[in-house]
Amino acid sequence: MSSKADPTEHFPKPKNDLILRAALGQEVERPPCWIMRQAGRYLPEYHEVKNGRDFFETCRDAEIASEITIQPIRRYKNLIDAAIIFSDILVIPQAMGMKVEMLEGKGPHFPEPLRTAEDAQKVLDYHVDVLHELDWAFKALTMTRNKLDGEVPLFGFVGGPYTLLTYMVEGGGSKMFRFVKEWINKRPELSHKILDKITTVSIEFLAQQVVAGAQILQVFESWGGELGSEDFDEFSLPYLRRISKELPLRLKELGVKDKIPLTIFSKNSWYALDKLCDSGYDTVGLDWSWDPKEAVKINNGRVNLQGNLDPGVIYGSKEVITKKVERMIKGFGGGKKNYIVNFGHGTHPFMDPEQIRWFLEECHRIGSA
Ligand code: CP3
Repeated sequence: MSSKADPTEHFPKPKNDLILRAALGQEVERPPCWIMRQAGRYLPEYHEVKNGRDFFETCRDAEIASEITIQPIRRYKNLIDAAIIFSDILVIPQAMGMKVEMLEGKGPHFPEPLRTAEDAQKVLDYHVDVLHELDWAFKALTMTRNKLDGEVPLFGFVGGPYTLLTYMVEGGGSKMFRFVKEWINKRPELSHKILDKITTVSIEFLAQQVVAGAQILQVFESWGGELGSEDFDEFSLPYLRRISKELPLRLKELGVKDKIPLTIFSKNSWYALDKLCDSGYDTVGLDWSWDPKEAVKINNGRVNLQGNLDPGVIYGSKEVITKKVERMIKGFGGGKKNYIVNFGHGTHPFMDPEQIRWFLEECHRIGSA
């Protein structure tokens, strides 16, 4: 229909497109494998390249970010089927005018979180030019896609709108979520306005990540499970649905011809699995609390499922890892359709990379059987 040239046409084509085929629901020879936070602190080569530099500084340097993204692909050659761009979900609050620091050993910190209606208004009034504010992210994606030279497809990502609202209001990680709960209960309308703006920016960011070279996308709603079912339906799900509905329209407008597979990972949102399977995403990521068989039953073939090894299993013996991988892959129906291997959450900094190699090798062996 569109006569516009596809802006992604000049990129190297995938030599290994296993994850793209699986994410589109096709039958595959074995389940594709990747791991949330596969690039990062458990890898000695990460520390070497990061060399004590500030976290966001490394994300904003295309050479360094692309090198860190490719490290696990190089180390686990032929064992990992996708790369994920080295960046963070908090780059959207930054693009919306908020200051975010990464404190060594402590995690993210917002020196001026949203606490008053005036704070919120400032964010709502701030004009966000996605291409300009996040140009460094697009440069990193393009460089990474070209450097990968088709070896594996490249993931782009964003944080879920409710998760980002949580960080913007709490000012960092939280145990009690006092401030965000105060916000959604005391200022629901204002909360919705901010969620809406985050969603608009996220859709544009995801679309432009594809133009810049991302071939598959994931939304991380990491704090989804902190909401009750009713509040999830009000403060998370409608925005997740807006992303899955509007993103393909925006991609079409930009001239992208391929269908770009989209994954939602909403951690600990067990009460919402049925709805998430109907929310317009191709794949639903599961944390490790799920018995795969139970999730397969609820899904009933609607989408692909991704996950869900407890990352803590990596601290166990090889025998334990094998047993858990077997249970996982069998539980997901053998892995040749509607399934993508992952952990139920990210890697930890203390993990032994050789244990992760064993996990991947066993996923290949058991998943190919
Ligand atoms: O390898 C990958 O998965 C790609 C890169 C990636 C990072 N963060 C790198 C990172 C991705 C996809 C993220 C997403 C992200 N960031 C999420 C969603 C996933 C999840 O874990 O739930 C969240 C909630 C964040 C926010 C964030 N960024 C936190 C809470 C922290 C501190 C983590 C900690 O354990 O201290 C970060 C920092 C961060 N993001 C690091 C990395 C490699 C550690 C930075 C360092 O100190 O070197």
